[in-house]
Amino acid sequence: MPVIRFVREGRDVECYPGENLREVALRAGIQLYGLKGTLGNCGGCGQCITCFVEVPDEPSAVALSPRTPVEEQKLRRRSQSWRLACQALVNQSLRVITRPQVGLGDREALLASSMATPLPLGPTAWPQPEVEPETALEGDAESQPQPQLQPEADATSGDVS
Ligand code: FES
Repeated sequence: MPVIRFVREGRDVECYPGENLREVALRAGIQLYGLKGTLGNCGGCGQCITCFVEVPDEPSAVALSPRTPVEEQKLRRRSQSWRLACQALVNQSLRVITRPQVGLGDREALLASSMATPLPLGPTAWPQPEVEPETALEGDAESQPQPQLQPEADATSGDVS
Protein backbone atom coordinates (compact mmCIF):
# COMPACT_ATOMS: atom_id res chain seq x y z
CA MET A 1 0.00 0.00 0.00
CA PRO A 2 1.18 3.55 -0.57
CA VAL A 3 2.60 5.34 2.43
CA ILE A 4 1.84 8.96 3.22
CA ARG A 5 4.66 10.38 5.27
CA PHE A 6 3.30 13.29 7.30
CA VAL A 7 6.44 15.33 7.88
CA ARG A 8 5.11 17.68 10.57
CA GLU A 9 3.70 14.82 12.62
CA GLY A 10 6.56 12.40 11.95
CA ARG A 11 4.11 9.66 11.02
CA ASP A 12 3.74 7.20 8.16
CA VAL A 13 0.18 6.21 7.25
CA GLU A 14 -0.71 3.49 4.78
CA CYS A 15 -3.64 3.76 2.41
CA TYR A 16 -5.05 2.09 -0.65
CA PRO A 17 -4.29 3.54 -4.08
CA GLY A 18 -6.90 6.08 -5.07
CA GLU A 19 -7.94 6.97 -1.55
CA ASN A 20 -8.75 10.58 -0.76
CA LEU A 21 -5.88 12.29 1.06
CA ARG A 22 -8.19 14.19 3.43
CA GLU A 23 -10.09 11.07 4.41
CA VAL A 24 -6.90 9.13 5.07
CA ALA A 25 -5.49 11.93 7.20
CA LEU A 26 -8.65 12.30 9.27
CA ARG A 27 -8.94 8.54 9.70
CA ALA A 28 -5.39 8.47 11.04
CA GLY A 29 -6.07 11.32 13.45
CA ILE A 30 -3.79 13.76 11.64
CA GLN A 31 -4.54 17.42 12.44
CA LEU A 32 -5.27 18.59 8.92
CA TYR A 33 -6.90 21.92 9.62
CA GLY A 34 -5.70 25.18 11.08
CA LEU A 35 -7.91 27.19 13.42
CA LYS A 36 -10.32 28.36 10.72
CA GLY A 37 -10.83 24.89 9.30
CA THR A 38 -11.17 23.37 12.74
CA LEU A 39 -13.94 25.83 13.59
CA GLY A 40 -15.73 25.05 10.35
CA ASN A 41 -14.92 23.36 7.08
CA CYS A 42 -16.89 22.23 4.06
CA GLY A 43 -16.48 18.54 4.80
CA GLY A 44 -14.40 17.89 1.72
CA CYS A 45 -16.39 19.69 -0.98
CA GLY A 46 -13.53 21.93 -2.08
CA GLN A 47 -15.26 25.13 -1.01
CA CYS A 48 -13.72 26.25 2.28
CA ILE A 49 -10.06 26.21 1.20
CA THR A 50 -8.83 25.16 4.62
CA CYS A 51 -7.37 21.70 3.98
CA PHE A 52 -4.07 22.91 2.54
CA VAL A 53 -1.18 20.51 2.34
CA GLU A 54 2.23 20.94 0.81
CA VAL A 55 3.82 18.21 -1.25
CA PRO A 56 7.53 19.03 -1.21
CA ASP A 57 8.76 16.36 -3.60
CA GLU A 58 9.03 16.86 -7.33
CA PRO A 59 7.70 13.40 -8.30
CA SER A 60 4.48 14.24 -6.46
CA ALA A 61 2.94 14.97 -9.85
CA VAL A 62 2.38 11.23 -10.21
CA ALA A 63 1.97 10.44 -6.53
CA LEU A 64 -1.31 12.37 -6.39
CA SER A 65 -4.10 12.81 -8.87
CA PRO A 66 -3.76 15.96 -11.00
CA ARG A 67 -5.06 19.25 -9.65
CA THR A 68 -8.80 19.53 -10.06
CA PRO A 69 -10.45 22.61 -11.62
CA VAL A 70 -11.47 23.59 -8.07
CA GLU A 71 -7.82 23.55 -7.00
CA GLU A 72 -6.72 25.46 -10.08
CA GLN A 73 -9.14 28.19 -9.14
CA LYS A 74 -8.76 28.20 -5.36
CA LEU A 75 -4.98 27.80 -5.28
CA ARG A 76 -4.09 30.20 -8.08
CA ARG A 77 -2.24 32.52 -5.70
CA ARG A 78 -0.55 29.75 -3.76
CA SER A 79 2.58 27.72 -4.34
CA GLN A 80 2.38 25.04 -7.01
CA SER A 81 3.40 22.52 -4.35
CA TRP A 82 0.21 23.17 -2.36
CA ARG A 83 -2.88 21.04 -2.74
CA LEU A 84 -6.29 20.77 -1.20
CA ALA A 85 -6.29 17.45 0.61
CA CYS A 86 -9.97 16.90 -0.09
CA GLN A 87 -9.36 17.09 -3.83
CA ALA A 88 -6.31 14.83 -4.03
CA LEU A 89 -6.30 11.08 -4.53
CA VAL A 90 -3.22 9.14 -3.50
CA ASN A 91 -1.63 7.08 -6.29
CA GLN A 92 1.80 6.39 -4.82
CA SER A 93 3.76 7.00 -1.65
CA LEU A 94 4.64 10.61 -0.93
CA ARG A 95 5.63 13.12 1.72
CA VAL A 96 3.10 15.69 2.86
CA ILE A 97 3.35 18.75 5.07
CA THR A 98 0.03 19.56 6.69
CA ARG A 99 -1.03 23.15 7.40
CA PRO A 100 1.77 24.78 5.38
CA GLN A 101 0.18 28.17 6.04
CA VAL A 102 1.14 27.79 9.72
CA GLY A 103 4.83 27.43 8.99
CA LEU A 104 7.11 24.67 10.11
CA GLY A 105 9.88 25.26 12.64
CA ASP A 106 13.03 23.31 11.77
CA ARG A 107 11.58 22.78 8.31
CA GLU A 108 14.86 21.75 6.70
CA ALA A 109 15.76 19.40 9.55
CA LEU A 110 12.32 17.76 9.45
CA LEU A 111 12.48 17.39 5.67
CA ALA A 112 15.96 15.89 5.89
CA SER A 113 14.83 13.54 8.63
CA SER A 114 11.82 12.47 6.56
CA MET A 115 14.16 11.65 3.68
CA ALA A 116 16.26 9.33 5.86
CA THR A 117 14.05 6.34 5.16
CA PRO A 118 12.99 5.91 1.54
CA LEU A 119 9.31 5.53 0.81
CA PRO A 120 8.00 2.44 -0.96
CA LEU A 121 6.27 3.17 -4.26
CA GLY A 122 3.29 1.06 -3.27
CA PRO A 123 0.88 -0.72 -5.59
CA THR A 124 -1.20 1.25 -8.05
CA ALA A 125 -4.36 -0.82 -7.68
CA TRP A 126 -6.50 -2.19 -4.90
CA PRO A 127 -5.86 -5.81 -3.96
CA GLN A 128 -8.20 -8.22 -5.66
CA PRO A 129 -10.58 -10.02 -3.29
CA GLU A 130 -10.11 -13.74 -3.05
CA VAL A 131 -12.80 -15.61 -4.93
CA GLU A 132 -14.47 -18.31 -2.88
CA PRO A 133 -15.81 -21.41 -4.62
CA GLU A 134 -19.54 -21.30 -5.13
CA THR A 135 -21.46 -23.52 -2.78
CA ALA A 136 -25.13 -24.30 -2.91
CA LEU A 137 -26.72 -23.17 0.30
CA GLU A 138 -29.80 -24.68 1.78
CA GLY A 139 -32.72 -22.53 0.71
CA ASP A 140 -31.04 -21.50 -2.55
CA ALA A 141 -33.44 -20.69 -5.36
CA GLU A 142 -31.80 -23.37 -7.52
CA SER A 143 -32.29 -26.11 -4.97
CA GLN A 144 -36.00 -25.35 -4.53
CA PRO A 145 -38.60 -27.02 -6.80
CA GLN A 146 -39.67 -24.62 -9.54
CA PRO A 147 -43.40 -24.02 -10.15
CA GLN A 148 -44.73 -25.51 -13.38
CA LEU A 149 -46.12 -22.95 -15.76
CA GLN A 150 -49.55 -23.70 -17.24
CA PRO A 151 -50.25 -22.61 -20.81
CA GLU A 152 -52.72 -19.76 -20.86
CA ALA A 153 -55.91 -19.89 -22.91
CA ASP A 154 -55.48 -18.14 -26.23
CA ALA A 155 -57.59 -14.99 -25.86
CA THR A 156 -57.07 -13.95 -29.51
CA SER A 157 -58.55 -17.07 -31.08
CA GLY A 158 -62.12 -15.88 -30.63
CA ASP A 159 -63.12 -19.28 -29.27
CA VAL A 160 -65.91 -18.57 -26.75
CA SER A 161 -66.89 -22.14 -26.00
S1 FES B 1 -12.27 20.48 3.17
FE1 FES B 1 -13.06 22.32 2.37
S2 FES B 1 -11.78 22.72 0.67
FE2 FES B 1 -11.05 20.82 1.43
